Amino acid sequence: MLWLYSQLLGLLGSLKGITSDAVASPCVLKLLEAGEVRAEWIKFLGAFANLETKANQVYDAVKASYTCLSQMAAKRTTSFKPIVAWMEYDKNGGVWCFTKEPHKLKFVEDAGGENIDKSINKITYNVSDPDDLEALHAILCTVDAVIDETLSSEPQNYTKKTFLDNINLEDNSCFAFNQSIWRYDKRVRKGTTLDWHDGAISQPNLVLADMIEALFSTGNYTTSYFRNIAKGEGVIDISSDMCDRDASLPLVPTIPACG
Ligand SMILES: *[C@@H]1O[C@H](CO)[C@@H](O)[C@H](O)[C@H]1NC(C)=O
Ligand SMILES: *[C@@H]1O[C@H](CO)[C@@H](O)[C@H](O)[C@H]1NC(C)=O
Ligand SMILES: *[C@@H]1O[C@H](CO)[C@@H](O)[C@H](O)[C@H]1NC(C)=O
Ligand SMILES: *[C@@H]1O[C@H](CO)[C@@H](O)[C@H](O)[C@H]1NC(C)=O
Repeated sequence: MLWLYSQLLGLLGSLKGITSDAVASPCVLKLLEAGEVRAEWIKFLGAFANLETKANQVYDAVKASYTCLSQMAAKRTTSFKPIVAWMEYDKNGGVWCFTKEPHKLKFVEDAGGENIDKSINKITYNVSDPDDLEALHAILCTVDAVIDETLSSEPQNYTKKTFLDNINLEDNSCFAFNQSIWRYDKRVRKGTTLDWHDGAISQPNLVLADMIEALFSTGNYTTSYFRNIAKGEGVIDISSDMCDRDASLPLVPTIPACG
């Protein structure tokens, strides 16, 4: 989160104490590799405090974008509200569960979708238990889009087949969501660090725009964080040579088209 704020505010040069390159920002990586990230955290915080006006501008721009997108989605979806299962498989326990995290459920609602109901997300579903598995498949029959946030040590290898293996099926041709299985690990650093962890907090408008594209695909919008494994979309490996600006200048927040 600090990376993102510091990029938005043009404070990259004053970041310090970063000893790890476990960062999924091309411009932070560029500075790290050049040995330029060495100021004190205290300086960073001081600089942050002095940039309150800039911070407010960024915040206002992101917020206005989010509001515009959610209003656009609300207008569009008077009739059809796709049902979304935001779900996670725990490999060790062999169980699936559905997310209860309010901010994730809200992204779905604000994008004009509907979450599966609360009686369903209370429970975990053990794929080794035939009754649980049957119940899980029955739920999936009601779903229009899946967001699979199963942890993976190798996101690039998490494909539609991995998802199907995890729900214990050969294929999902019978499901309405067979063209819409999303993961938020599109932007990855060294195969493990997800840009999502910054973006979802600092640029929620981009997450919302991704979600709208996931639910009401136009093919006109390139998602930032989400990739559709149902369509074989892979990950993007982030590296410092993707930093396409002067790293010391503020990153203008990305504002997706709206209207
Ligand atoms: C799921 O079921 C299998 C087989 O019955 C069992 O070994 C495993 O412990 C169960 N997992 C959980 C998390 O209860
Ligand atoms: C994951 O994918 C990479 C290539 O992208 C491959 O080299 C590696 O063997 C794969 N790992 C597994 C466990 O399949
Ligand atoms: C997707 O599911 C629909 C039914 O919901 C089916 O008609 C279609 O053939 C399926 N497509 C694929 C690629 O599995
Ligand atoms: C894609 O964008 C173009 C130009 O902005 C617009 O004319 C077209 O209607 C869009 N298509 C869809 C499917 O939204």
